[in-house]
Amino acid sequence: MSFQDVLLIGACAAFIVGLKQMGRKQSAKRGNMISAAGMLAAVVGALWQAEVPPVAIGVLVAAGSAVGATMALRVRMTSMPELVAAFNGLGGLASMCVGVVGLLHTADPILTKRILSAASVVVGGIAFSGSIVAYGKLSGRIGTKASVFPLQLTLNTLMLVAALAFGGWAIAADVSVVPAFLLVGTSLLLGVLGVVRIGGGDMPVVVALLNSYSGIAAALAGTALASPTLMVAGTLVGASGFMLTRVMCKSMNRSLANVLFGGFGAGVAPEGKGGASGKVAPVDASDAFLMLEAARSVVIVPGYGMAVAKAQHAVNELCQLLIDNGTEVRFVIHPVAGRMPGHMNVLLAEAGISYDLLIEPSDINDAMANVDVALVIGANDVVNPDARDNPASPLYGMPIVNVDHARAVIVLKRSMASGFAGVENALFTMPNTRMLFGDAKSSTAGIAEQFSN
Ligand code: TAP
Repeated sequence: MSFQDVLLIGACAAFIVGLKQMGRKQSAKRGNMISAAGMLAAVVGALWQAEVPPVAIGVLVAAGSAVGATMALRVRMTSMPELVAAFNGLGGLASMCVGVVGLLHTADPILTKRILSAASVVVGGIAFSGSIVAYGKLSGRIGTKASVFPLQLTLNTLMLVAALAFGGWAIAADVSVVPAFLLVGTSLLLGVLGVVRIGGGDMPVVVALLNSYSGIAAALAGTALASPTLMVAGTLVGASGFMLTRVMCKSMNRSLANVLFGGFGAGVAPEGKGGASGKVAPVDASDAFLMLEAARSVVIVPGYGMAVAKAQHAVNELCQLLIDNGTEVRFVIHPVAGRMPGHMNVLLAEAGISYDLLIEPSDINDAMANVDVALVIGANDVVNPDARDNPASPLYGMPIVNVDHARAVIVLKRSMASGFAGVENALFTMPNTRMLFGDAKSSTAGIAEQFSN
């Protein structure tokens, strides 16, 4: 066994162990480091096997690491989903290029290899262009609304048929430059058409699904190249991306077909059917303090606004003050609160809030009536009662945190603006709701200050 083989086998083992460790909060950081080390071993092993000179390997690894480190250091926590979408896209692009090379390699007549290459062009192309659209929607560079137009599904089906036809042509042809590039074009178009019709609210699911596609494309390319490392890495990404997609669909109570083809978010909430209709009751920090100081149990529901305001440290301070005051405090974390899976968990962990205080909506929803105050910090869609009660709401069916069932609700946000899904929230005008308008960090700090007065 050569040293390259040892590197490549080590890389596969590191991917598997790393992924396993990422499954637990306590070992997740270690899992990330192990996987990154595995990726380094895989890159060096593959280049070495391809007889790339060691100096060139060093330069390539250093250049790639510098770009990756710069992006990771510069990215804001709130922009992480875009970065994930962009990285997915690059994975898809790489697999698509490998597939194109496989098809153009006329000296390689093995039919299975050509079929696998064509498949990696299609799946990689969809993952690449779909991820670019997802990136555009998540970063606000293109509109977040679902673009639905007549005969769209028919067009998508025609594109799929065209991709199959060009794929068959590229596999059968001796010199396959024309069909290979037609296949690239249709695959890229399929990715764009597939994702533009999905609304911004569903982008997390789409990113997870595209992540799975880029893994499948890599596994196909790995099989065509007879590269076990790429096969293992691709299969792990493909399977975990698909599992995450399923978990997210479940937490929104939607089927994958509904996410992909439902055109969710193309319209607005129908008038008179839900949304905010009563009177808004604003409070200031001292009123909010009085309510919280008197409460025996408080649940805190963080959302995207907490991330924008970078309020997690102020929230931790308020949480400690409440605990010192004898209040039972729990954080209810909705699976799609924020803009990426685990968004709230990461921020709260960064602020040093104990995992023991974190619960899931299903742990408290039925007992919410016993909670004195629900403190909603920058969350909106995930606490919208229309999602539970109003069949006319675009959010209907998405599980929420039932904060409206608490004895009192205090909502911290800057205005009456809607959240990511663009729908009004009936919670804000309910009789037991008080609105504390302002940036979540200063509002939280403002309440905390009152404890020392
Ligand atoms: P959203 O519904 O997006 O609402 C966030 C609220 O935060 C906004 O209404 C905004 O109101 C408020 N806000 C923004 N900046 C603020 C600041 N500095 N201080 C105080 N408030 C601020 O958030 P959510 O409840 O967390 O729901 C998440 C949504 O994103 C869901 O629709 C979900 O499907 C979608 N999504 C989730 C993910 C994942 S995986 N978590 C990824 C992409 C999309 P103001 O402007 O009035 O302040």
